[in-house]
Amino acid sequence: MDTIENLKAGTLPTHLAIIMDGNGRWARQRGKMRIFGHENGVKAVRETVENCAKIGIEYLTLYAFSTENWKRPKREVDTLMNLLVSSLKKELKTLDKNNIKLNAIGNIQSLPKKAYTELHEVIEKTQKNSGMTLTLALSYGAREEIKHALQEISVKVKNNIISPENIDETIINNHLYTHNLPDVDLLIRTSGEHRISNFLLWQIAYAELYFMEVFWPDFRLEHLAEAIKNYQNRERRFGKTSEQLN
Ligand code: FPP
Repeated sequence: MDTIENLKAGTLPTHLAIIMDGNGRWARQRGKMRIFGHENGVKAVRETVENCAKIGIEYLTLYAFSTENWKRPKREVDTLMNLLVSSLKKELKTLDKNNIKLNAIGNIQSLPKKAYTELHEVIEKTQKNSGMTLTLALSYGAREEIKHALQEISVKVKNNIISPENIDETIINNHLYTHNLPDVDLLIRTSGEHRISNFLLWQIAYAELYFMEVFWPDFRLEHLAEAIKNYQNRERRFGKTSEQLN
């Protein structure tokens, strides 16, 4: 059985999220500029998106640019934004071919106009696709997302649309950028760092975490398969005992 068929035979994470880390170190190891790492990171993005769609993952969320990444040198930020625009332009056909719907979370309005416009165009053009939902987290920070949700809920409380005693997890979920996505089942982080870095803090409450040494530009099907295989061998108890599950 080939790798993809083999993975399909087991329980798949419905929602896979990835912190793509290590582009800069990958480039430095080769004596190149950080930008070279990001360019090669795009190749890994393309391959991973296609592989996830083939495997049958329903939701894939990629941490592409955090609220904190704005603090990087302007040249690097500009390169990342340009890579986003050129990738969106280039990949529309691949998204359609694989029946993938594009989605975005984060403070999208803060993106440069060109990136914002291109993103919206591809989101609109792929809306009717019924396969995997690919979500790009752009100018995303979980604390900012929670703050934004609290502000929206507060306005509704003030206008007597919601009463404070009725605020529950569903209402909070409905006000997050991820309101149309299920909770994360599996979170992968590459590059050997064991941190969450302000990514989907609410949504990973019961996620399985998988940290890998590989730098993002080297991330291939074999690494994706390793993480999913590991997930398939875990027991998810959601607070219950093993006996209760059996
Ligand atoms: C982390 O590596 C990676 C990023 C901050 C950006 C991720 C972006 C891409 C893979 C390319 C563009 C994405 C799309 C969706 C087209 P790092 O720079 O923090 O690496 P380091 O920790 O080794 O310095």
